[in-house]
This record gives sequence, C-alpha cells and structure tokens, in this order.
Amino acid sequence: MKTLRTSSLSSPVAARQSPRTSKLAAADASRRDAQHARRRASAAMRLSPASLAAAASQVDKAQTELPQLHHASALRNRVPILKALLKLLPNEEVVGDACEIGAGTGALLEVLAPGFPGINWLPTEFVPQEPVEVENQWAAHGKIGRRLGSELETLDAHLQPFANVLPSVAVDLLDENWFENVGSLDLLVCCNVLHVSPWACSEALFEGAGEVLRPGGQLLIYGPFKVNGEFIGDDDGAGNRKFDAKLRENSVEWGLRDVDDLNRLASYAGLEAKKRIDMPANNLLLQFVKVRTGPLGRIAECFM
Ligand SMILES: C[S@@+](CC[C@H](N)C(=O)[O-])C[C@H]1O[C@@H](n2cnc3c(N)ncnc32)[C@H](O)[C@@H]1O
Repeated sequence: MKTLRTSSLSSPVAARQSPRTSKLAAADASRRDAQHARRRASAAMRLSPASLAAAASQVDKAQTELPQLHHASALRNRVPILKALLKLLPNEEVVGDACEIGAGTGALLEVLAPGFPGINWLPTEFVPQEPVEVENQWAAHGKIGRRLGSELETLDAHLQPFANVLPSVAVDLLDENWFENVGSLDLLVCCNVLHVSPWACSEALFEGAGEVLRPGGQLLIYGPFKVNGEFIGDDDGAGNRKFDAKLRENSVEWGLRDVDDLNRLASYAGLEAKKRIDMPANNLLLQFVKVRTGPLGRIAECFM
C-alpha cells in the first residue's frame, strides 16, 4: 500500500459522500489550520519516518515526565498493536488523517504517533456529563487508567510531545452525529471499546466510519471478540467466556461482540472486512476498508 490517502475533501466523491458536508468541512478546516501551525512550529523536530529508536525515546519522555496514569493492560497491549499495524501499514509510506475513538489515557497513541509520523492523529475520548469517582470509572463507563484532571487534559498532557498529534476532542459514540467532530479521515482506530459499551456503540462506530472515511480509508478495531458465536483462544475460549460473564454482570448492555455481527454492520456501512489478526491474550485486530458509500441512519435495520 503506497498511502492511505486516496482522495481529498474537495474531490467530487467526498463531496457526494455526506449530506452533512458543511459541518465536516468546517471540522476539516479547523483541523487543517491546527495541523499547519503545529507542523510549522515543529518542522525541525519531526521524526525521521523510519526512526523507531527516536519513537522509543519520545515515548520514554512522555512516560517519565508524567505520573503513571496508564492502565497496565493498555501498556501491555500497545506494542503488539503497533507491531501489527506496522505490518498492515508500512510506516514510511503512510500519510493521512487518523482518529482514535475512546483513546482512554492516550497509551496507544504514545506509540502510534511516533510509529507513523506521516499520519496526523486526532485523539478522542468519551467525556461523561456527570464525572464519576476514579474507582467507579470502569463500572460506569468502561474507563481504565487514571485521569490528571479532565479526560481531554489527560490525553493532551500525554500526547503534547508529538508534533503529529492534534488537540483531543470529546466523542461519545452514542451521540447521533459524533462523526461530525472528527472531519474526514483515512484511518479510524478503536481499541477495547466495543465490549464495554452498549451494542448501539458498535452500530454507531460502523455507521460513522462509513461517513468519515475517505474511499479506501480503513477502520481498525482491536479487542476481545467472539467468532461464529463462539469464544476463542488457546484455552478454548475459557478466559474470554469468563471475561464476558464479568462484563455482563456489570452491565447487561456490555459483552464481547461477534466478528460476524461486526462484518454485517461493516457491509451495511460500505466497508469490507479485510483481515482478522490473532493478537496476544486472545484478542483480535480487525481490519475494514471503505469500498463504497453506505446508507446513513438505518444501520440497525441490517439485523431485521
Ligand atoms: C477499556 S477502555 C479502553 C481505552 C483504550 N482505548 C485502551 O485500549 O486502552 C474503554 C474506553 O471506551 C470508552 N467509551 C465508553 N463508552 C463510550 C462511548 N459511548 N463513546 C466513546 N467511547 C466510549 C471509554 O471512555 C474508555 O476510554
């Protein structure tokens, strides 16, 4: 793959793509302004594309200057995810605009940003209207890790060292028009979110991906999933079955999603399921590519 980017917002395809073009265009324009300012300010500091050593030192810097806020599991997952993405998207060649949904405390972007210096990353996080105590954050909203202050402050503090990361924005997948806050994209990443949120979030993720992704753009989803209705893993799915039971005990709306159901959402939204990659601890990385414009607003119908 030469590059993720296959079109610009001004192309006829992109203009036809969305009935909400003006809002998306405004979001794009403000993202572009911010990008240009940051690029100018940091041109001298840009990482050389192939320099993962430099990437590692940036991560160290981000890590040592802040109190440890990331959850242990986020720290465990991020390097295997980076390695898998480097195989899927060769980092010297990939340019474009990307967004992470539910970025948590920013642990993954601390390695993806330097790992993919040609991508402009937009971190997002769900900001609940009523904040809850740290110890209740997982049970209430599936949040892991600690916060410095607000969700977005935490993200920005961690990701400030990276020239190719934009200021974070609040995104709630249950907000009907969530995708209007992220502009048009070449890559949408969502890790460990769909099993700790209602099924409507899975629908909304695909529906929004169909809206914001440029033709050829990709949606990458990571987490624990079922396949063909079965729990998977080298332990015959025992670990994931137990985890699913714990999730459902916490909330009847949570639980491991089935890859087949996600594939169905994908095809309805105009995305094609490309690859399913086995990851450590019985997780999967799912790759979808936007191949056509899907119908908007009726994604739930694909299960009727
Ligand atoms: C287990 S954490 C994963 C955080 C991070 N992505 C990671 O892999 O370490 C689940 C994330 O889902 C987010 N989330 C929960 N409900 C959401 C919603 N309605 N819209 C967007 N994100 C949501 C939470 O805020 C939280 O950051």
